[in-house]
Amino acid sequence: MAISKKVREQMKASSWIRRMFEEGMEMRRLHGAENVFDLSLGNPLLEPPAEFNEVLRRIVNDDAPGTHRYMPNGGFSGVRAAVAKQLSAESGILFSGEDIMMTVGAAGALNVILRSILDQDDEVVIIAPYFAEYIFYIQHQTGVVREAQSGPDFMPDIASLKASLNERTRAVIINTPNNPTGVIYTESVVDAIGEAIRDAEKRFGTEIYLVSDEPYRKLIFSDAPFPFIFKHHARSVVATSHSKDLGLAGERIGHIAINPADPGKADFMDAARFALRTLGFVNAPALMQRVVAEIQDATVDVSEYRKKRDFMYAALTDIGYSCVRPDGAFYLFPESPIADDLEFVKLLQSKLVLTVPGVGFGTPGYFRVSYCVEDKVLEGSLRGFAEALEEAR
Ligand SMILES: Cc1ncc(COP(=O)(O)O)c(C=O)c1O
Repeated sequence: MAISKKVREQMKASSWIRRMFEEGMEMRRLHGAENVFDLSLGNPLLEPPAEFNEVLRRIVNDDAPGTHRYMPNGGFSGVRAAVAKQLSAESGILFSGEDIMMTVGAAGALNVILRSILDQDDEVVIIAPYFAEYIFYIQHQTGVVREAQSGPDFMPDIASLKASLNERTRAVIINTPNNPTGVIYTESVVDAIGEAIRDAEKRFGTEIYLVSDEPYRKLIFSDAPFPFIFKHHARSVVATSHSKDLGLAGERIGHIAINPADPGKADFMDAARFALRTLGFVNAPALMQRVVAEIQDATVDVSEYRKKRDFMYAALTDIGYSCVRPDGAFYLFPESPIADDLEFVKLLQSKLVLTVPGVGFGTPGYFRVSYCVEDKVLEGSLRGFAEALEEAR
């Protein structure tokens, strides 16, 4: 077969996702779409804020010459300056446009970061539960995945992180608010992560990047300050996007922000521009760069997601599920009432409720519920959740 062995293996490893998708389609065909309660996808429900459409219309009508041409690989300088201004205001740390690079979503940003820092078989630590695509991003960029674990509250287990760091470690990826748990790491946990990394750098005489994947940073329901990584490790970089906070997942617009205090930041940004170009992205979408630059302080109506979180968390725990209460993103990660989460997800499926097994996030024994769907889908799913728990018991 003409397909790469590696890609075939990777596709096989994630084939249950495809199977679930196909089974979901079949269920809709058999039972009617309105009778199937699909809580399996992380596709943002909320529409972009009104400012987005206003600015988009104005910019589309601007036919100044050169509007659609190539640009510097890192993005328009005015756009990078606008992102830097907003990030400075949010983090209390001064960024300049030089510290920002516009990317094709957070996924593109992560691939660019990994391509920039990894040599063949260098290791990248990810902390379970994690976004499963990390595995493929790391492997595509010639790295090797090493997993660390979290505690029962889904905060990273620092002892496990320390044990996963070695002379081949080049990066640690964290994700908060987390997909799939919705948990926000505390400032002290992020501090402990930074300390563990610096300790490993000293022990092994190496340099290790702390990479923070933050597409849910503005989807937060508590007053706790967001734990920016910059104070906790100098060699640190953020990957993020407007897929969720502006509801622009299909438009593929995000950015990288390098820590202004990183002594190697100029080299890093040079490498990142090269990686962005030669991975084939060339530059982030021009039109979207211009639009988001003007609405950096806008977000979707986060209170809508909070209402859904409140409703679904209360409903599932009332039914009898055990679940950590999330403070961000749009996911719940309840414990499976039986040890085999794949089996339980199948049982839910037989009740026409679609969820994702925890094994897909490196954490068997749990399952993910995406509540970024219409209220009627959440309400309609509850009977299936109740019946499945009853049968599992
Ligand atoms: C944790 C996490 N990181 C990255 C991404 C990719 O996001 P983007 O659309 O910005 O590429 C997602 C998308 O669901 C995600 O959940």
